[in-house]
Amino acid sequence: MEFVSDKVQELPPYLFSKFQERKKELQSRGVDVIDLGIGAPDLPTPDFIIDRLMKEVKKADNHVYAPYSGTEEFREAVASFYQTHYGVELDPNTEVLTLIGSKEGIANTIQAVVNEGDVILTPNPGYPVYTTAIQLAGGVNVPYPIDATHGYEPQLDEIDQTDIDQAKLLMLNYPSNPTSATVDFNVFMKAVTFARNHKMIVANDAAYDLVTFGDYVSPSILQVPQAKEYAVEFGSLSKSFNMTGWRIGYIVGNKDVIKSLSTLKSNLDSSQFIPIQLAAATALTSDLSKVQKNNEIIEGRMEKVCQALEGLGIRFEKPRGTIFVWAEVPKGYTSASFAEMLLEEAGMIVTPGSAFGSGGEGYFRIALTVTTKRFDEVVKRLQHIQL
Ligand SMILES: Cc1ncc(COP(=O)(O)O)c(C=O)c1O
Repeated sequence: MEFVSDKVQELPPYLFSKFQERKKELQSRGVDVIDLGIGAPDLPTPDFIIDRLMKEVKKADNHVYAPYSGTEEFREAVASFYQTHYGVELDPNTEVLTLIGSKEGIANTIQAVVNEGDVILTPNPGYPVYTTAIQLAGGVNVPYPIDATHGYEPQLDEIDQTDIDQAKLLMLNYPSNPTSATVDFNVFMKAVTFARNHKMIVANDAAYDLVTFGDYVSPSILQVPQAKEYAVEFGSLSKSFNMTGWRIGYIVGNKDVIKSLSTLKSNLDSSQFIPIQLAAATALTSDLSKVQKNNEIIEGRMEKVCQALEGLGIRFEKPRGTIFVWAEVPKGYTSASFAEMLLEEAGMIVTPGSAFGSGGEGYFRIALTVTTKRFDEVVKRLQHIQL
């Protein structure tokens, strides 16, 4: 193709496009397809957030470019959230930066930190954006395994010493997409020690930080003493407040990383629309009761699915958070063939684990993102499949 750069041409096809084509085809044959593929919350943004947006959007002063690093109110709200929720102190001027969604921030941080040939350590299976952003930045992706046997903790001992020596960045993602794994604080302690010993940055992608069930509270990597010397964390309002389309998130922690990201971004974008940042500040400084309500709904769906999977003899670990259930495919199937079978036999789209890297083979991911009533239909259909 004439007008496509080599870099773009080398990118893998968009993960969900094949399934979307099949979905259309089945729908045209009259099949009532249930899409549990894409992890986008179906619930609405809470009213109190929308109310603040409406108020701010009417003010002409808010229609100008936002400050490059984001509005003061949003950065202060992030700092206040970290203080209240995690007991972590942040300087809103140097240790917080507004992002246009955490996806953008993750991809641009990789650009801002990595030189050609630098190694970045990423979880396998993992969120595909890490891999593609590394490819675009000319870095070398070295996946490390996370698996059920080791409680989905990063298996850093399995990384070659030469790769560790060349590594600039260690990516973590807890609570995890796609595995829905959550960890306890000691995992972050170990990761920061690893980063300190080997002189690299450790970045935790905490996009699902508040999406947790029961009394489990997901820790922050910045709670590790002196973590800010080596660590950053990405946060997002997309999942906790059902704000995927608003495109608002943040990075917190190490000020050198934040400064280089801010320099890069000031050349690429002009931050997020001011009213969106102000509404997001209201969300982060709220009592989080709406997040709790949301989580209860997602947990209810999760329980239904888990019961149905149990009935089928499918193995999985019950998640303590995220909007996903990660389960093993039954004997005789690959990830792809099982997903295909569910689509054909049950009219359900799930994501084959292999889409998230070689470590995902043998698994599939269910997104808990259709209504609870629709999940009754999911359960019914699962009960009728023949394994
Ligand atoms: C692990 C993980 N990180 C980051 C993101 C990006 O979220 P956003 O850009 O909406 O903040 C997602 C979205 O699905 C995700 O699953």
